[in-house]
Amino acid sequence: MMRTSNKALRQPYVITGPDREFAASVIEGLSKPRKSLPCQFFYDARGSELFEEITCLPEYYPTRTEIAILDAHAAEIASGVDDGAVLVEFGSGSSRKTEILLAGLPRLRAYVPIDVSASALAEAKRRLTKRFPALAVRPIAGDFSRLLALPPDLAQPRKLGFFPGSTIGNFSPLAATNLLGAMRRLLSPDGWLIVGVDLKKDARKLIRAYNDAAGVTAAFNLNLLTRINRELEGSFDLDGFRHEAIYDPREGRVEMHIVSMRNQAARIRGLWFRFSAGETIHTENSYKYSIGQFQDISGAAGWLPGRVWTDDQNLFSVHELISNSAGTAVIPVAGSA
Ligand code: TRP
Repeated sequence: MMRTSNKALRQPYVITGPDREFAASVIEGLSKPRKSLPCQFFYDARGSELFEEITCLPEYYPTRTEIAILDAHAAEIASGVDDGAVLVEFGSGSSRKTEILLAGLPRLRAYVPIDVSASALAEAKRRLTKRFPALAVRPIAGDFSRLLALPPDLAQPRKLGFFPGSTIGNFSPLAATNLLGAMRRLLSPDGWLIVGVDLKKDARKLIRAYNDAAGVTAAFNLNLLTRINRELEGSFDLDGFRHEAIYDPREGRVEMHIVSMRNQAARIRGLWFRFSAGETIHTENSYKYSIGQFQDISGAAGWLPGRVWTDDQNLFSVHELISNSAGTAVIPVAGSA
């Protein structure tokens, strides 16, 4: 007994390599009565490429709407940022939206993009260094939801977080509050955060955005099975599964599923999993929030609501959140009202 626990204690981090973690989460998710796969594994090199394609689809309004909002208000957003501040981006992908902010922030101490895709980080660093030669780009490859601290030399400067793309909507409301709390601690003291949040809207428009006519979202969703086949010795027959997107108005979320089109089984690292006809693997949620709902969940994480920008069709929102400690100084004093 004693010996085993000592051994475990000696190697607390070594046992969770990325591949082992992928295998463990896939096997766990497919062993549940309602099967699911964890969404952070969408973004291998091919997945990141397909996601970039999604962001350009005519049906996928969030990216272009958020970019238009950032474009329209970049100067206003940048106006509060002190010289020497550090910009930290959670799930940076191509860093295309960040470029809009960076153009107005010539005196940053550093830009820290965090992403699971090393290829996306390398490509973004190359492009940004070319456009902003004076900018220190300090990428961190990994899952931003697990990051506990920044490199020690970046602890001192004030930190602005950037979390676009409504990625916050891919967490349950409770997990989102926890994540926003972890971000507040990472960005402390006196940190602040710019978050993109997709707004509630007509269900048909939502479903179209997650089930495009060209089938790119379907390819993106099914790429998870391709990745399992390649990396975990999987035997999924890609022709036996299809993509599905539904909107659950009660939960306020779009759900992505992979549907088994017949009774079948697939092997993963020597383990067999059965799928009955019509059975689904739940791969992702995308929660939609009203402005007030989002301020409630971020407030529960210790963030004070700052400015909120939207487009004129009310499709998407960009929130400024202010850490509670820094926030006390900027709460507007009630005037004559
Ligand atoms: N954050 C994006 C969103 O919720 C991610 C996303 C877009 C996505 N399309 C997807 C995730 C399709 C899974 C499948 O809008």
